[in-house]
Parts: sequence; structure tokens; C-alpha cells
Amino acid sequence: MAHLKISDLHVAVEGKEILSGINLEVEDGEVVALLGPNGHGKSTLLQVIMGNPNYEVLNGTIYLDGKNVLAMSVDERSIAGLFLGFQNPAEVPGVVNSDFINAALNARSERPISAIKLFNLFNKASKEMGMPLDFAHRNLNEGFSGGEKKRNEVLQMKLIKPDFVMLDEIDSGLDVDGVKAVAEQIDKEKDGKRTFLIISHYARLYDLVSPTRAILMINGKIVLDGDTSIIERIDREGYEWVHAEHGIRVDRRDDQIIALGECAVKESF
Ligand SMILES: Nc1ncnc2c1ncn2[C@@H]1O[C@H](COP(=O)(O)OP(=O)(O)OP(=O)(O)O)[C@@H](O)[C@H]1O
Ligand SMILES: [Mg+2]
Repeated sequence: MAHLKISDLHVAVEGKEILSGINLEVEDGEVVALLGPNGHGKSTLLQVIMGNPNYEVLNGTIYLDGKNVLAMSVDERSIAGLFLGFQNPAEVPGVVNSDFINAALNARSERPISAIKLFNLFNKASKEMGMPLDFAHRNLNEGFSGGEKKRNEVLQMKLIKPDFVMLDEIDSGLDVDGVKAVAEQIDKEKDGKRTFLIISHYARLYDLVSPTRAILMINGKIVLDGDTSIIERIDREGYEWVHAEHGIRVDRRDDQIIALGECAVKESF
């Protein structure tokens, strides 16, 4: 099960409100594309769902399968089925990649996984992700290239098998084969029950993973929620039409600087 319900979520970072009333319900088995211009709060939403303490929840609720996500620690959220493939995966010196996966798998099972089983799982997943097996022995993300970090995020997803998968610009930094490999793995992991929330700026990835729904975030709000025609339109035309057709300004709050003497009339949304 992976049913997520977010209600009236307001979030601030460094005292600045970034998310301004997110309402979002995602059902089991949906593959949701989350789009929006740079800096409008997409990553913030995923970070808050996963429990990054740098983001302050000002108001609102997040429930996963009826459980209060905001009351859970990050590891509890992970055990509950949430997974985030980061836009910028952190380098973690001193933590060996395979030990990290080992700990994650053991936290989910009653008995520790055997070394041979871990090796076999890692071996298979590494091959599918086009990564040499020696990445198992390297420190997590340390010195990995941009594309290797992204492939490693998907490798974690494959081994941990979370119910609710969030992938933040998983395609950025990947070469053409990498994008294909990642898309194939996402496709393979879809089983009609597991849920995917996928951020990308490119229709290329979405073409390969066939989302069931697309949502658009502008200025910390979800302003459109519909089918994949939203993706095609953004790919063709950018974001101008959102203002022209829906009256929603696409410039960021930071950019809406009102000069002294200027008439302070702002469009509201
Ligand atoms: N730790 C932080 N300190 C200050 N500002 C932050 C912090 N984290 C996020 N922000 C700001 O919050 C806003 C939203 O950022 P976010 O990363 O959610 O955008 P995004 O929609 O994912 O953009 P992109 O498409 O470029 O990844 C940005 O203006 C960003 O600079
Ligand atoms: Mg982002």
C-alpha cells in the first residue's frame, strides 16, 4: 500500500515560506510526474515528506496509508515505505555503500541478510544499473561522478523495494544509456501497487516511464493536476501559457521586486 495524503501543507526554509498550502492525494499504483520551474518548491516537497529537519512545517498534515508521517522520524518513514532518490545525493565518507544497503535491508527484516545473499543482490542490481561491482566497496557517493550517484540512488531503490518512491531529477547528469537504464528499472519496479512521484524537467524521461498523472507546482502551490498533456505542453512551450491561460504568474516571489515609486499592484493567485 502506498496512499499519500497531504493537506494544506505550508513549509518554510530559513524563515522563508516555500510551500504555501499543498493539497495532494496520491493513490496506490499511480505514477505521478511533478513539474515546475526552478526554485518553485518541488524538491522542498519531497524533502519534507522524507523528513529533512532543515525544512520547517508551519502548518498541514501528511498521511501515508493513514499514518501520520510528520510524527515519524526519518528511519520510521523509510520503514513505512517512503524512499527519496536525491537531486544532489550527499557524499558520506566512512560509510561503505554495501554496508549502507545492508543496514537498510536488515532494518526491514527479522533476521540479518547473509553476506552471500547481499553479494548476489548487489551484483545483480549493479549489472542492471551498469555499475561495476567495486562500487559496493566504495564509500557512499564519495568521489562518484554525477551520473554514478544517480545510478546508485536507483540501485538503492531496487534493493530496498520501497512502496512509495520519490525520485528528484533522477535523470539529471545521466548519459543517454543511464537515462534508459534508470527508466527501465522504474518501469520494472512498477507493479500497480507501488507509487512513484517523479520530478524531472524533461519529457524524455517521462516518455520512457509513462506517468499516469502530471502535476505542476508554481510558487509553492500545485496549480495544475491532470494528464500527461501537461508534460507535452511544457516541453513544447515552456511555462508562458500557464500565465496566459490560467492567470498564474510564474515568476518567483523573489523576482517580484517592487521598485520604489512603482504602483504595488500584484496579481494574486
Ligand atoms: N536550505 C535552504 N536555504 C535557503 N533557501 C532554500 C533552502 N532550500 C531551499 N531553498 C529555497 O527554496 C526555494 C525552492 O527550492 P527547491 O529546491 O524546492 O526548488 P525546486 O522546485 O526543486 O527547483 P529545481 O527545479 O531548480 O530543482 C528556492 O528558492 C531555494 O533557493
Ligand atoms: Mg529541485
